Amino acid sequence: MTQARPRISKAVIPAAGLGTRFLPATKATPKEMLPVVDKPAIQYVVEEAVNAGLSDVLMITGRNKRPLEDHFDRNYELEEALRRKGDESRLSRVQESSNLGTIHYVRQGDPRGLGHAILCAAPHVGNEPFAVLLGDDLIDARDPLLSRMVDIQRLRGGSVIALMEVDPSQVHLYGCAAFKPTDIEDVVEVTGLVEKPDPAEAPSNYAVIGRYVLDPAVFEVLRETPPGRGGEIQLTDALQALAAEPGLGGPVHGLVFKGRRYDTGDRGDYLRAIVRLACEREDLGPDFRAWLRSYVTEEM
Ligand code: UTP
Repeated sequence: MTQARPRISKAVIPAAGLGTRFLPATKATPKEMLPVVDKPAIQYVVEEAVNAGLSDVLMITGRNKRPLEDHFDRNYELEEALRRKGDESRLSRVQESSNLGTIHYVRQGDPRGLGHAILCAAPHVGNEPFAVLLGDDLIDARDPLLSRMVDIQRLRGGSVIALMEVDPSQVHLYGCAAFKPTDIEDVVEVTGLVEKPDPAEAPSNYAVIGRYVLDPAVFEVLRETPPGRGGEIQLTDALQALAAEPGLGGPVHGLVFKGRRYDTGDRGDYLRAIVRLACEREDLGPDFRAWLRSYVTEEM
């Protein structure tokens, strides 16, 4: 049996993309700051990292980085105003995001793709495995994913990616994996990856979603990775190189996720996330569900 490796502690959250699918909302605001009910999407993602035991968070930011940094910092003026009003409940809501721990920031400069964003984390991460959580990808906190990926990496080494079955008509929107089964039912060994394939050429309809646990060998591979699809340095291309040659950084495993996930960078998915999470909230849910029911039955 393989000896367990030390638990990983670093999380990298890329949030420097242009968010063009969400223009004009994202003209002056990062898409990761768009609210999902009453919290910005990125706060759910940082909370997920911290809850999985990853206390060292590095955010990759770009233009318009101020709102991200401000959100995770104290706001003394606002806190003082709420304290004076005796509004303890809102005060603690405001403090939640600044109490999540220390967040480090690095700027990407030109948004040259997800692979390039991750390469910006190399000096901070050093030579240890680390997690990557895409800042616009929400995983429902009730459906644990990242902590299991960390456990799999600890046992098997190498890198672990998250896969989700999608309708074959949707494969052109994702990186897609070729794989073979392992002795664990929902864990596969990834043998190849293709970024945004045509449906006829897709190796499967299992798509890569925004959670990764990566071996630091990925940095060396990314440095050698030329711009791929869309002229961007693609993380999928680097993972394909790792999967094709396990000698570089160990095997690449995939954990097949069957839980709830929302791509908040996509307008339709963003709306679905808000409706679902609002319906499930104890404070807002009862009124909102009643309104939604009458809206759907009477006006649609
Ligand atoms: P996307 O491909 O969804 O980001 O990247 P995008 O380019 O911002 O989106 P559209 O297609 O123009 O709407 C997934 C994640 O990677 C980050 C994004 O911020 C997002 O969290 N990213 C992407 C970077 O940090 N840098 C990049 O150069 C590209």
